[in-house]
Amino acid sequence: MSKPTQTLLVNGRKVTTCAEPTTRLLDFLRDELGLTGTKEGCGGGECGACTVIVDGSPVCSCLMLLGSAAGKEVLTVEGLHGEDGGLHPVQQAFVDHAAVQCGFCTPGLLMNATAYLESGDPKDPQSVRHALAGNLCRCTGYAKILDAVEQASRALPAQGKEVQ
Ligand code: FES
Ligand code: FES
Repeated sequence: MSKPTQTLLVNGRKVTTCAEPTTRLLDFLRDELGLTGTKEGCGGGECGACTVIVDGSPVCSCLMLLGSAAGKEVLTVEGLHGEDGGLHPVQQAFVDHAAVQCGFCTPGLLMNATAYLESGDPKDPQSVRHALAGNLCRCTGYAKILDAVEQASRALPAQGKEVQ
Protein backbone atom coordinates (compact mmCIF):
# COMPACT_ATOMS: atom_id res chain seq x y z
CA MET A 1 0.00 0.00 0.00
CA SER A 2 1.44 3.37 -0.95
CA LYS A 3 2.06 5.96 1.76
CA PRO A 4 -0.47 8.75 2.01
CA THR A 5 0.68 12.03 0.56
CA GLN A 6 0.07 15.61 1.52
CA THR A 7 0.12 18.67 -0.63
CA LEU A 8 0.89 22.23 0.30
CA LEU A 9 1.96 25.37 -1.49
CA VAL A 10 5.44 26.57 -0.57
CA ASN A 11 6.58 29.92 -1.96
CA GLY A 12 4.02 29.56 -4.73
CA ARG A 13 5.13 26.05 -5.68
CA LYS A 14 2.88 23.03 -5.21
CA VAL A 15 4.68 20.44 -3.11
CA THR A 16 3.42 16.89 -2.67
CA THR A 17 5.16 14.72 -0.10
CA CYS A 18 4.85 11.37 1.60
CA ALA A 19 6.77 12.65 4.65
CA GLU A 20 5.23 11.81 8.01
CA PRO A 21 2.48 14.25 8.93
CA THR A 22 4.08 14.47 12.39
CA THR A 23 7.23 16.00 10.89
CA ARG A 24 7.75 19.52 12.16
CA LEU A 25 7.11 22.04 9.42
CA LEU A 26 10.54 23.54 10.24
CA ASP A 27 12.28 20.22 9.54
CA PHE A 28 10.29 19.67 6.37
CA LEU A 29 11.23 23.07 5.03
CA ARG A 30 14.91 22.79 5.93
CA ASP A 31 15.65 19.10 5.43
CA GLU A 32 13.23 18.06 2.69
CA LEU A 33 13.01 21.26 0.67
CA GLY A 34 16.42 22.74 1.46
CA LEU A 35 14.89 26.04 2.55
CA THR A 36 17.47 26.72 5.22
CA GLY A 37 16.67 30.42 5.45
CA THR A 38 14.22 29.45 8.17
CA LYS A 39 16.26 29.07 11.35
CA GLU A 40 15.91 26.99 14.48
CA GLY A 41 16.74 28.80 17.69
CA CYS A 42 14.92 27.47 20.72
CA GLY A 43 12.82 24.78 19.07
CA GLY A 44 10.07 25.56 21.57
CA GLY A 45 8.10 28.55 20.33
CA GLU A 46 10.04 31.14 22.30
CA CYS A 47 12.46 32.92 19.94
CA GLY A 48 10.65 33.48 16.64
CA ALA A 49 13.67 32.51 14.52
CA CYS A 50 11.61 29.87 12.71
CA THR A 51 8.72 32.16 11.76
CA VAL A 52 7.07 31.57 8.40
CA ILE A 53 3.75 32.81 7.05
CA VAL A 54 0.97 30.24 6.73
CA ASP A 55 -2.21 31.40 5.01
CA GLY A 56 -1.28 34.98 5.83
CA SER A 57 -0.48 34.51 9.51
CA PRO A 58 2.94 34.27 11.18
CA VAL A 59 3.60 30.82 12.59
CA CYS A 60 6.46 29.27 14.53
CA SER A 61 7.35 26.44 12.19
CA CYS A 62 9.01 24.56 15.07
CA LEU A 63 5.56 24.16 16.61
CA MET A 64 3.54 23.35 13.49
CA LEU A 65 3.35 19.83 12.14
CA LEU A 66 3.43 19.12 8.45
CA GLY A 67 -0.02 17.57 8.69
CA SER A 68 -1.40 20.87 9.95
CA ALA A 69 0.17 22.73 7.03
CA ALA A 70 -1.35 20.42 4.42
CA GLY A 71 -3.55 22.27 1.97
CA LYS A 72 -2.18 25.62 3.10
CA GLU A 73 0.03 28.27 1.59
CA VAL A 74 3.43 28.63 3.23
CA LEU A 75 5.74 31.56 2.60
CA THR A 76 9.36 31.42 3.75
CA VAL A 77 12.04 34.07 3.53
CA GLU A 78 13.20 32.53 0.23
CA GLY A 79 9.84 33.44 -1.29
CA LEU A 80 9.77 37.01 -0.02
CA HIS A 81 10.13 39.67 -2.71
CA GLY A 82 8.77 42.98 -3.83
CA GLU A 83 6.23 43.50 -6.58
CA ASP A 84 9.02 43.99 -9.12
CA GLY A 85 10.78 40.79 -8.05
CA GLY A 86 13.45 42.72 -6.15
CA LEU A 87 13.62 43.27 -2.43
CA HIS A 88 10.39 43.41 -0.47
CA PRO A 89 9.95 46.82 1.22
CA VAL A 90 10.68 45.13 4.57
CA GLN A 91 13.95 43.70 3.26
CA GLN A 92 14.90 47.07 1.77
CA ALA A 93 14.17 48.79 5.06
CA PHE A 94 16.40 46.33 6.95
CA VAL A 95 19.19 47.14 4.49
CA ASP A 96 18.60 50.90 4.74
CA HIS A 97 18.71 50.83 8.54
CA ALA A 98 21.52 48.27 8.85
CA ALA A 99 19.12 46.29 11.02
CA VAL A 100 21.16 43.09 10.73
CA GLN A 101 24.21 41.94 12.65
CA CYS A 102 24.76 38.18 12.80
CA GLY A 103 21.53 37.71 10.83
CA PHE A 104 20.27 34.64 12.65
CA CYS A 105 17.04 36.30 13.76
CA THR A 106 16.54 38.18 10.49
CA PRO A 107 14.48 35.70 8.44
CA GLY A 108 11.99 35.22 11.27
CA LEU A 109 11.78 38.95 11.84
CA LEU A 110 11.23 39.63 8.14
CA MET A 111 8.41 37.10 7.97
CA ASN A 112 6.72 38.30 11.13
CA ALA A 113 7.07 41.92 10.06
CA THR A 114 5.67 41.13 6.61
CA ALA A 115 2.61 39.39 8.06
CA TYR A 116 2.08 42.31 10.42
CA LEU A 117 2.46 44.97 7.71
CA GLU A 118 0.07 43.13 5.41
CA SER A 119 -2.52 42.77 8.17
CA GLY A 120 -5.05 45.42 9.00
CA ASP A 121 -3.45 46.00 12.39
CA PRO A 122 -2.56 49.58 13.40
CA LYS A 123 0.91 50.68 12.29
CA ASP A 124 1.86 53.07 15.09
CA PRO A 125 5.26 52.53 16.75
CA GLN A 126 3.78 50.85 19.82
CA SER A 127 1.92 48.36 17.62
CA VAL A 128 5.15 47.63 15.72
CA ARG A 129 6.84 46.79 19.04
CA HIS A 130 3.92 44.62 20.09
CA ALA A 131 3.87 42.77 16.74
CA LEU A 132 7.59 41.96 16.91
CA ALA A 133 7.71 41.09 20.61
CA GLY A 134 7.97 37.37 19.88
CA ASN A 135 11.18 37.70 17.84
CA LEU A 136 14.32 37.67 19.94
CA CYS A 137 17.56 39.27 18.75
CA ARG A 138 20.75 38.93 20.75
CA CYS A 139 22.73 41.46 18.71
CA THR A 140 21.03 44.64 17.62
CA GLY A 141 19.26 46.08 20.65
CA TYR A 142 16.13 46.24 18.46
CA ALA A 143 16.19 49.99 17.72
CA LYS A 144 17.28 49.63 14.08
CA ILE A 145 14.85 46.77 13.54
CA LEU A 146 11.94 48.83 14.83
CA ASP A 147 13.03 51.80 12.70
CA ALA A 148 13.18 49.52 9.66
CA VAL A 149 9.70 48.11 10.17
CA GLU A 150 8.30 51.59 10.71
CA GLN A 151 9.94 52.66 7.42
CA ALA A 152 8.44 49.65 5.67
CA SER A 153 5.01 50.49 7.02
CA ARG A 154 5.29 53.86 5.29
CA ALA A 155 6.23 52.10 2.04
CA LEU A 156 3.03 50.05 2.22
CA PRO A 157 0.48 52.84 2.73
CA ALA A 158 -2.48 50.79 1.58
CA GLN A 159 -2.08 48.35 4.44
CA GLY A 160 -3.60 49.31 7.77
CA LYS A 161 -3.06 52.71 9.35
CA GLU A 162 -0.16 55.05 8.85
CA VAL A 163 2.64 55.41 11.34
CA GLN A 164 1.86 58.35 13.61
FE1 FES B 1 10.77 28.15 16.77
FE2 FES B 1 12.42 29.38 18.47
S1 FES B 1 12.89 27.91 16.90
S2 FES B 1 10.29 29.74 18.17
FE1 FES C 1 22.06 38.51 15.58
FE2 FES C 1 19.54 39.35 15.63
S1 FES C 1 21.16 40.08 14.35
S2 FES C 1 20.37 37.63 16.60
